[in-house]
Parts: sequence; C-alpha cells; structure tokens
Amino acid sequence: MRILAIETSCDETAVAVVVGDGATISIESSLVRSQIDIHQAYGGVVPEVAAREHLEMIMPMLMRTARHDGEGIDAIAVTYGPGLAPALRVGVEAAKTLAWAWKKPLIPVCHLEGHIYASWIGGSGVGGRVSVAGVPQFPVLALIVSGGHTELVLMRDHGVFERLGETLDDAAGEAFDKVAKMLGLPYPGGPAVDRLAEKGNPHAFAFPRAMLDRDDCMFSFAGVKTSVLYELRRQEEKLNDDAFRADIAASFQEAVVDVLVQKTMRAAGKHQPASIVLAGGVAANVTLRNRLRDAAANIGIPVFLPDFKYSLDNAAMIGVAGYFRAQRDAAVDPLALVANPNADIV
Ligand code: KG4
Ligand code: ZN
Repeated sequence: MRILAIETSCDETAVAVVVGDGATISIESSLVRSQIDIHQAYGGVVPEVAAREHLEMIMPMLMRTARHDGEGIDAIAVTYGPGLAPALRVGVEAAKTLAWAWKKPLIPVCHLEGHIYASWIGGSGVGGRVSVAGVPQFPVLALIVSGGHTELVLMRDHGVFERLGETLDDAAGEAFDKVAKMLGLPYPGGPAVDRLAEKGNPHAFAFPRAMLDRDDCMFSFAGVKTSVLYELRRQEEKLNDDAFRADIAASFQEAVVDVLVQKTMRAAGKHQPASIVLAGGVAANVTLRNRLRDAAANIGIPVFLPDFKYSLDNAAMIGVAGYFRAQRDAAVDPLALVANPNADIV
C-alpha cells in the first residue's frame, strides 16, 4: 500500500510517500519546508502567516511528490490535529480535495500518534526499508514531548492508547521556548537552549524538579520556568555574561530532563512495557536522548529514539501512522473531515 501523507499542523509544510507491505515499511520520499526563517522575525509562530505559507508551498510540494492523476497512490493520510487551526486547515482541505478527485480513501491522523510512529522509520530514512520485526514491540511506553504536549502514553497495540499522565501547565517544549526567550535566544528556543547548554554547568543552579514526589505520571514545568526568570532577575547584571547564560541553560535543561526521565522510568517499572519510545520535537534534545537511552539500558528495556530528522514535524511519520490506521479503520468521507486543533491521542 502506497500512502501520500500531508502535514501542516504548525510551521512545517510536509509531504511524503510511505509504502507498507505487511512485512516492511519504507519511506519513498519526504519533503519538509520549514518556516522558521519567516516566524523568527516575530519571535514565534504566527498562525495566519503559517497558513499563508502552507498555502503557497503545498501545491508545488505535492506536484514534486505525486502524479497529477494520483496513479500509484492507494490512500491519502493527513494530520487533522492537534495544531494551529488555520495551519491544519490547509493540509486537511488539500487532502480532502485529492481524495475526492482521485477517488482514494482518506485517513485522518492525530499529530501525536504520528510522532510516536517516527520510531518506526529507522535510521535509514528515505529509500530505507524497515522490517516490522525491528520496530518497537507492544506494549509501548511513549514519552511524548512536543511544543504543545507532554504526555506519557501506554500503547497496547496499533491504535490502542491509554494516557498515563500529562502536564498540568506548560509542555516541556513550551518551557524550552520560554526560557530561550528570557535568555534572548532566537525562535525556536529548544535547539538554541540545547546548544547553549553544552557549554554550561548543569549543576550550577538547583532549579525545581516538580511532581517528582508524586507517584503518578503527571508533570508541571511552569515552576522551573518561573525559577529561571527569578534567577535572571536576581542576577540581571550577568545577562550578557556567556558563561552565566550557559549555566542557566544547562541547569534548566538538567531539571527538565531529570523529571522526564525519572517519571518515564517509574512508569516503565509499573507497566513493564516491551519498549520505550521517545516522541515529539523535544526528542531532538541530545541530553534527553542520552539520559533516556542510559536509563532504559539500566532496566533492560529497548528504547527507540527517532532519527533527528524525524523527531521534528514531518509527513513521513504521518504516512507510517496512516498506513497502520488504514489496516484497521474504514476511510472517512472527505466531506465529513474537519481539522481539530484540540485533537488528542485518546
Ligand atoms: O513536535 P514539534 O516539532 O512541534 C509540535 O508538535 O509542537 O516540537 C516543537 C518543540 C518546540 O517547543 C521546540 O523548541 C522543541 O520542540 N525542540 C527542542 C529541541 N528541538 C526542538 N527542545 C529541546 N531541545 C531540542 N534540541
Ligand atoms: Zn509536532
């Protein structure tokens, strides 16, 4: 089955073709056009600007990816949410139009589910072929850390999700973005904090590790963000001191990673998953990747970290999720599909 996948939930326009044959999955093509350069001027994503850019990019990207008559494509998968409403709508309407014109099944995919399936892609990416024997085995414990979500999810099978816990306030990625702004770093903040933290001392400041005393899977990142703000105000004169800023970035990152890894390990102890999967944009964080890998190795559970390229928003992961959805779900009526900015995995 050859799936054309479309993703426009935030500030990346993405189109991919994914092929699954029951035994293997391969990514035939994957195009991602990031709008970072455009939104940087505003210090964050402007939804209407994102939608306008998606509108301009989506047709040329589809034309590079598929034949005009849709030959060779068996189904169309699209992210319907969560995300920014004006941005989501562009991808959803494009997918609906193609499904109607080509008479192909339309498969709506939850963006967060897509992030989990980035770990089914493997390191080879485009042109590579992954055996389904080598992918994460169920039950999968997924730590989802994106710009808008921080959740621990137990995935018992394809499409069977149980949310174990989530953040009560800010998402981990959001905290990275806000701390980056406080440090005067450019948007998107996560990668900038990650880079700055490399030069800092992670133990220079003891920022709070919220919710670690609770024996559940809930998170909170508003406190650590506020503590960073207070520290920066207390030592305002050092704001231009590179070593100080690097220590703040490293200590903040350490606090966030500590909580994410410890809570994931506790959930793993309780639910005994066959594999652990890291998902979402913050999965690109080098410290988080290393610490989760080491912690999972200590308890002997295989951990899957998406390739850097597929940690961030892309359509290949939507195509893989769509492929597994197509095996189980009936296609939806194109007219009935609407973007849902608040969609969730359960
Ligand atoms: O999944 P994603 O690309 O978009 C959403 O679905 O939200 O995630 C974006 C988030 C942003 O908050 C960004 O700052 C964060 O992922 N991020 C990182 C890193 N790369 C991206 N956070 C920490 N370290 C990184 N290297
Ligand atoms: Zn995302």
